[in-house]
Amino acid sequence: MNFELNENQKLIQETAKRFAQEKIEPIASEIDKTGEFPHKIIKEMAELGLMGMIIPEEYGGAGLDFTSLAIAVEEISKASASVGVIMAVNNSLCAYPILTFGNEEQKRKYLPLLATGEAIGAFALTEPNVGSDPAHLESTIKDMGDYFLLNGTKRFITNGGEAKVFIVFATIEKEKEHKGICALIVERGFEGFSIGKHEDLMGLRSTANCELIFEDCKVPKENLLGNIGEGFKIAMHTLDVSRIDIGAQAVGIAQAAFEKALAYSKERKQFGKYLYEFEMIQEMLANMATKIQAARLLVYYAASLKDRGVSRFSKESSMAKYFASEVAIEATRLAVQIHGGYGYTKDYAVERYYRDAKCMEIYEGTSEIQKIVIARNLIS
Ligand code: CAA
Repeated sequence: MNFELNENQKLIQETAKRFAQEKIEPIASEIDKTGEFPHKIIKEMAELGLMGMIIPEEYGGAGLDFTSLAIAVEEISKASASVGVIMAVNNSLCAYPILTFGNEEQKRKYLPLLATGEAIGAFALTEPNVGSDPAHLESTIKDMGDYFLLNGTKRFITNGGEAKVFIVFATIEKEKEHKGICALIVERGFEGFSIGKHEDLMGLRSTANCELIFEDCKVPKENLLGNIGEGFKIAMHTLDVSRIDIGAQAVGIAQAAFEKALAYSKERKQFGKYLYEFEMIQEMLANMATKIQAARLLVYYAASLKDRGVSRFSKESSMAKYFASEVAIEATRLAVQIHGGYGYTKDYAVERYYRDAKCMEIYEGTSEIQKIVIARNLIS
């Protein structure tokens, strides 16, 4: 067992870290305030290869492994969790299912667009009435012979307002439950597709999160991803991959909170002593650092299973996401606590981290869903 990153992974970590510090950190607070989508940053990230990290070189991507993706998502999320998830969704929720389940034509058409940042990708599973239970989607697909007709509304779609390529899930036969779900590649601009309400989120505010509306949307037959009825398994397998990145994102937020708390404890004096000299503060710092490292190792372990070609890693991916989310909540809460009244103001980044962290235990499957996945895998 080797706990060292390899030379390439170290280089990726260094590159992502430098980019995050120099380009993202200076605008992170501002885009959180305005909710603006960071187009310029995303374009630069695409040039660096970060938007298509797991896309093979033959389709214009960087052809890297999933551990490298997790490492980069952590570094980017340390500076801005919003930018971290824009990148993570593009790679693992949009490019990955096309790469894994798409035919050659679909790969050639869409992957270069996603790798170069010409198109941003999104994943549309959640609906107004369906969050945790996607076997019972209300959106429908009708086979019209020459094309599919898509109807329904999708909610809370990360990147939705800016994306050009969407993986959309809907049912072709409700009675079949999960076996009736299909996955379609939908382009912005398809007739009958419009963008709905923009979500005014508590955190992750620059992610163009919004509603998607499909009213008799015409989708060409060749845009079916996989086969009829395979959509549920495509969604579940894709989420197994992308939950690793949410774990990485949570580790990034937690690490940022820890570093800010440590630095502040060395600046602030009370009762004639620096904060770090108080044992209660030391206990908080030790607690944060230990749990962050444990979360990071769970993320790396899950990613390494994917890189080694293990076909099913649902349990490890859910463990990484579940644990890292809890750690992010705890670390950001303690970071605000160490900053005291200042931590509760928008003058310090820790309040943003605290808000961003909350989403980690909600999206891409709540913590409760992760525990269901873990428990089912332990029992079966
Ligand atoms: N990989 C492949 N196949 C899988 C699978 C996986 N990880 N998990 C389940 N399956 C298969 C099962 O083997 C089963 O197959 P058979 O029909 O051949 O037996 C089938 O799928 C049905 O499985 P279950 O009975 O376990 O399905 P379920 O309805 O009980 O659901 C669940 C299981 C884990 C609760 C699942 O519904 C789930 O993960 N829910 C959460 C959904 C979620 O994460 N939503 C977030 C949306 S994404 C997002 O947040 C958007 C964004 O913009 C970031």
